[in-house]
Amino acid sequence: MRPTDASLEDAHTAAPTFAAGPLRVDADRFLTALRGLAQIGCDPQGGITRLGLSAEESRAREFLEDLAAKAGLATDVDPAGNLLIRRADADPCLPVLMFGSHIDTVRQGGWLDGAYGVVAALEALTVLLETGVTIDGFEPVAVGFANEEGALVQHPFWGSRAMAGLLDADAEKAVDRAGRPARDYLPAAGGDPERLAEAAWPAGRIAAFLELHIEQGPVLERLGLDIGVVDGIVGRTIFACEVSGEQQHAGTTPMRDRRDALVGAAHLVAKVESLATALGACSTATVGFMDVSPNTVNTIPGVVRLNAEIRDTDTTRIQRSERLLASMAEHVARVSHVDVDLRVCDRSAPVLTDPGLRGVIADAAESLGLSWQAMPSGAGHDAQVIAALAPVGMIFVPSKDGISHAPGEDSDVGALVAGADVLVTALAALLGRGSPESDLEKTREDLASIACRRLEGRLGA
Ligand code: GLV
Ligand code: MN
Ligand code: MN
Repeated sequence: MRPTDASLEDAHTAAPTFAAGPLRVDADRFLTALRGLAQIGCDPQGGITRLGLSAEESRAREFLEDLAAKAGLATDVDPAGNLLIRRADADPCLPVLMFGSHIDTVRQGGWLDGAYGVVAALEALTVLLETGVTIDGFEPVAVGFANEEGALVQHPFWGSRAMAGLLDADAEKAVDRAGRPARDYLPAAGGDPERLAEAAWPAGRIAAFLELHIEQGPVLERLGLDIGVVDGIVGRTIFACEVSGEQQHAGTTPMRDRRDALVGAAHLVAKVESLATALGACSTATVGFMDVSPNTVNTIPGVVRLNAEIRDTDTTRIQRSERLLASMAEHVARVSHVDVDLRVCDRSAPVLTDPGLRGVIADAAESLGLSWQAMPSGAGHDAQVIAALAPVGMIFVPSKDGISHAPGEDSDVGALVAGADVLVTALAALLGRGSPESDLEKTREDLASIACRRLEGRLGA
């Protein structure tokens, strides 16, 4: 039987000790920090609205900086607005073992998506130092990425892309719904639009990246499992679409003479859904944003703007779905007598996590007596962007009723603490606490040699 939340909280003592075996976070301190962060961006209409690059995201960054300072850690905000937390005496020459997630939320989102992984990263770094884990091969660095969701300035993975050197010309063009670009928001977010390129890390500096996250779906809860060891992360294509018809009087325009943009858009929404249902061409397909103009009850809509997205773990299926949607848009334009302008506004590639890191995470879960299973992620994560720089691993914990990107997003506190325990135990193992007989030494050697090869490649270039 699962222990209750309260008994699990009690089971975690305030002072973890450095001894052989798994490490544990300070459950009280960790949950207090997590609940404190959840106060920032509380939306009067429900949930949390802490949009990327907004004032709320900045306040959250400051909250985390204060916590880090109290723990004796050094903080730094890079030109893209990413928060980096290190030992006060961090060795700048060591390859970095990085871990964390994102600080921002969607509109009326939940308290755990992103925040959980960032607060756990800060707690894990604190525990590693408190317990005196020997740090020689890698420098541990916790990160809070800026604007992963792209809910305000519509460029998801903003911070991790900046770190991976993948902010391109499209990023410069990314704007909020009022047309305000990221560069206008950056100074208040602690960033610097003139030095954005300096946020990029060279290949080889990051030896490995770990991200702890809530699952955001129902799988672990339904299976009664404690931990998901993520094996792959979906790729996604986001489309911007404008359907144009003719704005006209709703009472006097005969039905056969209309060019109703919303009717065309409605057909298109159904077509998008059919990509993942009737056609089975991709795993999910969604229209989540629509703006109807002029949006008046007695006027035939003249223009509808919408965003659609499709996801899959297989690049070929994503590409095929993109082509299918393009031909569906042409069909809708013909039969609904509207113009449809469909363009891709963002693509992120599916990635596989590193098998060695998966093993380290699974070993950590087992050493803590937690059940686990390998599973794919249907949500996108900063880890899939950092995969361009370094091997990545992800740890999932169960979400209650699979709810996420909604005010009802939640997880048992016991599950949250267990996931953080897995993170700190896996980090300690990678930093050097592993037993030499296990595969761990090999994984550490692999990571070191990958880091060295990448550094050599860069120096040789
Ligand atoms: C990230 O939150 C996503 O939309 O998958
Ligand atoms: Mn999210
Ligand atoms: Mn997230």
